[in-house]
Amino acid sequence: MYSVKEALTKATQQIKGISDIPNKEARILLASYLKKDQLWLITHDGEEIVEEGYFKLIERRFNNEPIEYITNSASFYGRDFYVDSNVLIPRPETEILVDEVISTCKGIKRPTIVEIGTGSGIISIVLALLIPDAIITAIDISKEALKVAQKNAEKYEVDDRIEFIHSDLCENYKKKNFDMLVSNPPYIANDESLHIGLSYEPSMALYGGKEGDEILKNIINIFIEKNVKNLACEMGYDQKDAITNYLKDFNLKANFYKDLARLDRGFVINK
Ligand SMILES: C[S@@+](CC[C@H](N)C(=O)[O-])C[C@H]1O[C@@H](n2cnc3c(N)ncnc32)[C@H](O)[C@@H]1O
Repeated sequence: MYSVKEALTKATQQIKGISDIPNKEARILLASYLKKDQLWLITHDGEEIVEEGYFKLIERRFNNEPIEYITNSASFYGRDFYVDSNVLIPRPETEILVDEVISTCKGIKRPTIVEIGTGSGIISIVLALLIPDAIITAIDISKEALKVAQKNAEKYEVDDRIEFIHSDLCENYKKKNFDMLVSNPPYIANDESLHIGLSYEPSMALYGGKEGDEILKNIINIFIEKNVKNLACEMGYDQKDAITNYLKDFNLKANFYKDLARLDRGFVINK
């Protein structure tokens, strides 16, 4: 048995080689382990209540497992979502994609929105919360991911407003002429070597093909074939030229946006 203070000191030492914020992560993991909040840890730092089980979590973190998978919790757009290793951990830059969709849908009454590759459901769920009259369909090729998305939709009580469909792209979704297609698809090239932390995330959520932009191009094809009015996609920082060239063949132009690091990160096409 360790006191809160002793446990935090020991845990911080153990993960300081792999984390930039070891003390903060040790606290987050302890709060999660004890099912208490951060303030409780401060006010009870002398209490001897920490068992060895806590150090099993610290060991997982030491092995580079992302903290979000250990706590089953990730933040997106100021809200907390359930995550596990079946889904990508939400990235802050994807909030910009959500903002792009919201500004495109402004002025459209009861916008019909389809998301390809919903993962944990974060994009569709935040859109359902922020565009209350939107009619949303969320697709994923992974049944396990769809279970996570459904769980999150129930948490935010929007499960009756989002239709979840198990499908490879739009194979099982036949409707056309909708207002908005949105996607944060896998866009990393198959042979790219990644940081060890990413090896815990599903490869189906990361890799987009030999070049990396194959799924993005398929989504552009769907946008054209289904006569969708608007398209918003996240992409890799180095894919702007490839997308621009691909769109030229269809006489289409995209407005590209950057992320907070000023890297090209996505695009919007309005017909
Ligand atoms: C990069 S993750 C994005 C997850 C979530 N939308 C987000 O932004 O955090 C891509 C998602 O696309 C799904 N996916 C990959 N290939 C797909 C395909 N061919 N059809 C439908 N979904 C696919 C993966 O299972 C994964 O959940």
